[in-house]
Amino acid sequence: MELQEAINQRRSVREFTDKPVERDIITKIVQLAQRAPSWVNSQPWEVYCAMGDSLQQIKDAYREQDAAGNHGQSDLPVMGREKWAAQTQANMKQWRHEIVHHFANFDEAHEAMTTASDTLYHSPVILYVTIPQASPDWSIFDAGLFAENLMLAATDYGLDTIPTYNSVRFPAILHQILKVPEDERFIVGISLGYPTTAKINTYRSKRRPVNEILHFN
Ligand SMILES: Cc1cc2nc3c(=O)[nH]c(=O)nc-3n(C[C@H](O)[C@H](O)[C@H](O)COP(=O)(O)O)c2cc1C
Repeated sequence: MELQEAINQRRSVREFTDKPVERDIITKIVQLAQRAPSWVNSQPWEVYCAMGDSLQQIKDAYREQDAAGNHGQSDLPVMGREKWAAQTQANMKQWRHEIVHHFANFDEAHEAMTTASDTLYHSPVILYVTIPQASPDWSIFDAGLFAENLMLAATDYGLDTIPTYNSVRFPAILHQILKVPEDERFIVGISLGYPTTAKINTYRSKRRPVNEILHFN
């Protein structure tokens, strides 16, 4: 697959089939992702693969927390929407408006999004990316580069992905089940698998026109 094709094809999938992903392919994808650049080649990332029993335990524990009305708190702080810059708020608002209107009505959209997030997208695999607690902000940037490499490599192997905040809302659960040392923090969980034909997977997000964000001087 050409790189441009992979970049254009990658999109977030919110409902995966039961089809498992082979460990060998996961290893190859992560190995490709390791080619990402990082500050002085510090390579701050580690990847914890949740699948089978461990992923089921995570899904069960998250469901319990949700049932108890706990929202969780990711290691990276979340900022209230009202504090974001106006343009980014407008972009988020437009995305929400469009995804809702992709469905027949609000209830259908709400049901699809809630089920997707409550089931952790029915993911057969989640790759959790961590960095050491002792890291500068630059390592978060590096982990982002690593994550995008990983998702593009997955696309090249015919797999779909979604990076989520949702999957890292309860770090204590993840530390325990995935045996992640306390001196690491969770950046993102990347679901990996094959897509169902559900309506939610047919939405294609938009981007601002390039001439609005590219400033030649
Ligand atoms: C750091 C990060 C966290 C995200 N968390 C969630 C999430 O919790 N739930 C969700 O449905 N999508 C999540 N997304 C996916 C975004 O909504 C998605 O990338 C965006 O709408 C653009 O769509 P695309 O990925 O299909 O191009 C997240 C994306 C990123 C980069």
